[in-house]
This record gives sequence, C-alpha cells and structure tokens, in this order.
Amino acid sequence: MAQHRVRLEVNGEQHELEVEPRLLLVHLLRDRLGLTGTHVGCDTSNCGACTVHLDGRAVKSCTVLAVQADGAQVTTIEGLGSEDALHPMQDAFWANHGLQCGYCTPGMIMAATDLLRRNPNPSEDDVRRALEGNLCRCTGYHNIVKAVLDAARRGEARESAAPPPPPVEEPAAPVAPGVGA
Ligand code: FES
Ligand code: FES
Repeated sequence: MAQHRVRLEVNGEQHELEVEPRLLLVHLLRDRLGLTGTHVGCDTSNCGACTVHLDGRAVKSCTVLAVQADGAQVTTIEGLGSEDALHPMQDAFWANHGLQCGYCTPGMIMAATDLLRRNPNPSEDDVRRALEGNLCRCTGYHNIVKAVLDAARRGEARESAAPPPPPVEEPAAPVAPGVGA
C-alpha cells in the first residue's frame, strides 16, 4: 500500500514517519513511537482509553487517522507529567484513589485536563458530562469525579495563593480647570 509521510510533534519531540493511509493515530503512537500509555480499549470509539490531546484538545486517537495528524501537536499521558513530577491531575487521581486497574486512567486524565482547560471550575455534573465518553470497567467513577474536582480546587487554590500582580501606575488625573491651588 502507498505510504504517506507525516510530520508531527509528540510530547515536544518532532517526528517524521512514513505511514499507510489507514494507520490510526493510536497505533502510530503505540506501535511506531512506543508510547504505550495510550491504551486501546475498544477500537470502536466507545471507551475513551485512547484519548490524547491533538492541538490542545482531547480526541479519541482511535478515531483519527495518522495522516490527519500531519503537522499537529500531540500530547499523550507520557507528556503530561513524569514519575518524579506528576501533573496535578495525576496527583489528584493518586490522592483520591481515582483508579483501580488503571486501564482507563490515561484517557480519563487526558479528558479531564482538557475539561479544566475549558472550564477551570466545573461542577460535579460538568465533570460527569465531560467524562461521558470515557468508560471505566472497574466502575470507579465516584473517585474519578472526586479527583477531577480536587484537581480543579487545587488549581483555584494555586491561583488565589499567587502574589497579586504589580500595581498598574495610573496616569496622573488631569486637574480640572479652576480646581486646586
Ligand atoms: Fe478509542 Fe476505545 S480505543 S475509544
Ligand atoms: Fe480499571 Fe478504570 S480503573 S478500567
């Protein structure tokens, strides 16, 4: 089958690969780049285990052809944090026991970080709605939702603890004619 050249940035690294036009992004990530943190749970766009960020937005990478990602920026769970420096969402999942077997977790975390990017202060309903496309076979939704709300709270706490911006120097108000000394 004819090959197509695609160039894409994955977790900050540039890649150029020859791919078959039918290759799915999830298989490019896992089989060609060895990024196996992105899971395949169904291959039918139902489970969300394969969720990554494509140009900053969460997508199910089993629904995207690798050639459609040509020129794009992709972030996978490996690009979000590291063992030594967890992303706040990973830390919140850990702290709230938001996982059991962990199979759905990378996709949940990628979907949840996209939610907080769009809506930094979601309600419980917002979280449940945003994660509708991500299935957990261990049925651990309660703690997953708790983890996302915790990550949102921590983000808010960080922002309110940030030092206030320096005062903006107001231009001196013009003195009205006839007022003052
Ligand atoms: Fe992509 Fe299930 S593997 S949605
Ligand atoms: Fe097992 Fe979600 S933690 S599938």
